[in-house]
Amino acid sequence: PEILILNGPNLNLLGKRQPEIYGHETLADVEAACAALAGAAGASITLRQSNSEAELIGWIHEARGTAAGIIINPAAFTHTSVALYDALNTYEGPVIEVHISNVHKRESFRHHSYVSLRAEGVIAGCGVQGYELALARVLRLIG
Ligand code: DQA
Repeated sequence: PEILILNGPNLNLLGKRQPEIYGHETLADVEAACAALAGAAGASITLRQSNSEAELIGWIHEARGTAAGIIINPAAFTHTSVALYDALNTYEGPVIEVHISNVHKRESFRHHSYVSLRAEGVIAGCGVQGYELALARVLRLIG
């Protein structure tokens, strides 16, 4: 089984962007850690990042019938995008939402998530390890 890991805007700069909030590890580090974890369970991952809402929506549509689960850090689109929420509702498999930072400890506009209305689970504030925790959960749900 293949698990899709989607990342929204500005996460291409992970490791360089506000490291005091998001840490020093990069998306390439996340990809390597998740690939190893998935591989040990006989699964595989595809990690993608886009600054474009349209591109993320297209990838969610492509996941229909192909991906066994979706892990998504929608970044700022978490708090704004009904379109991303609608797209996730076209997908049948498990969805786990990840935030590297603890959004509940931050500005109040980060406390609401459209994606949480669809996600089976949400992980926030566990740093980039959150992706591995989310992957463990997806592997359990599809196992
Ligand atoms: C984030 C939290 C969001 O509020 C923010 O817009 C991001 C990253 C996180 O991973 O902590 O870009 O999703």
